[in-house]
Formats: sequence, C-alpha cells, structure tokens
Amino acid sequence: MSTHRPSVHVLPDARSAQRAAAQRVAEVLRVKQACRVPAVLGLATGATMVGVYGELVRMHREDGLSFAHVRSFNLDEYWPIGPDDPLSYHRAMREQLWDHVDADADGVLMPDGTVEAADVAAHCRAYEERIRAVGPLDHVLLGIGRTGHIGFNEPGSSLSSRTRLVRLDARTIADNARLAPPGSEVPDHALTMGVATILEARAITLVALGAHKAEIVARALEGPVHADVTASYLQLHADVTVLLDREAASVLRQGEPG
Ligand code: F6R
Repeated sequence: MSTHRPSVHVLPDARSAQRAAAQRVAEVLRVKQACRVPAVLGLATGATMVGVYGELVRMHREDGLSFAHVRSFNLDEYWPIGPDDPLSYHRAMREQLWDHVDADADGVLMPDGTVEAADVAAHCRAYEERIRAVGPLDHVLLGIGRTGHIGFNEPGSSLSSRTRLVRLDARTIADNARLAPPGSEVPDHALTMGVATILEARAITLVALGAHKAEIVARALEGPVHADVTASYLQLHADVTVLLDREAASVLRQGEPG
C-alpha cells in the first residue's frame, strides 16, 4: 500500500487550529447542501474538539450554517456508560453541538454505551451497516491520544479493524481521568469505530493541540506506518489534513509555522 504525505498546517495557537477545523467541516456541509445530498460526517469528542464545536455553533448562529441534512457518526463512546453520565460522549456532543444547531436527531448516531454485553457484537455490526448505508463518510474529524490512537483504536489495532469493543490503554484512562469530574471514574472499555472505517472516509482532518501531543504527532506523521501508533495509518490515506498549534508541531522535522 502506498503512503501519502498529509497536508500539515501549523497554526499560531489552539483557537486558530480549532477554527480551521470548523471551517473544513462547514465547507463539507455547504458543498453537500449545494448538491442537495446529506453530508456524512465522522466526529470525535474530547478537549481538542470543544473549541471546534464552539466555532461550528457560532457559524450556525451568525453565518446561517445549517446541519439540517447531516448524517453523523461519532467515533466512540465509553462502555458501559449512560447517555447522561458526565463522562458520556453522548452528553458531550449534545452539550457542545447538537443542542445548539438544527440537526435532525434521527441523523445523529453514536455507539451506544448502554448496550448489554451479549448484544455488543450485533450493535457494532449494525453501526457499521448504518454507516455503509449512507457512506462512505465524507469527512472524519479526528483527535489523537498520547498512545497514538484515533477514535479509541489503541496500539495494536489492525488496519482492517471495524467498530468493536476495546479495552482502553492505561495511559488513555489516566489522561481522560484528568478531565473527569470529581467522583467519576473513566470506564476501562469503549466502543470505537475501526481503522478501516475511518480510512474509507473521503477526507480526514486530524487536530492536535499542545506540547503533550508533540511527540506522538511526530511519530504518527513522520514515523513508520505501524500498529503501535494507529494514527500512522493515516499516511495510507490520500486526503488527510493535519491542523496543529505550534506546541503540537514542535517535534516535527518540518515543524516551522507555515
Ligand atoms: C474521542 C476520540 C479520541 C480523542 C483523543 C484526544 O472521541 O476519538 O481519539 O480525539 O483521545 O482527546 P483530547 O482531545 O481530549 O486530547
């Protein structure tokens, strides 16, 4: 499989990178709307995305950006977890985006953290089928974990992986525990869209912010394509845009602000 060089943009600060990511999503929405077909999105959650969704909400309010015909599939959700749990990605997406825009609730899907253990495999298959029915994804918005994960595809995830239940890496649990409200514990499992599903998307945008992401960003973009750093699989995709702030770009050989 041939590798490609992602288009890497180093922005002066986190806010500029988040704004640029929001603009890329907005562009997909506008193009699809002009063609009168639904935009099919893959969406991440996490600290990096808060400002991206904030900017999309601003564009909806001030610039008339519409989400009316969006079909969206979130990358992941903790398991087991209820949709109103303070750590739940369902709750984060509602609070950060869906409660503030004109999306149709039926068009917004996420892996279900309440599914029973016995039903997990069928649920994951059904999620893939829902994506396939309207897909491929037009655009996937990704963050990156310090383990190199995209979605919750932790080290060792295969290139052919699909939506499934995974055990989270201890480093991911520790990182995400820092964002957790007092008294809540980060689950050690999650449901995640697979690498193969992500790589089938037409276009991908990865956003990484902060010095704590610098080393893994360099390994993902400039290291070998390897299951140890699942974000390195992005080198196999022909249309990847990477948006970094200066700190996240600081270990890249090509890390000068462009
Ligand atoms: C979450 C997801 C993860 C995060 C990653 C970075 O939906 O897909 O891959 O994008 O863990 O998280 P933050 O932005 O909190 O550093």
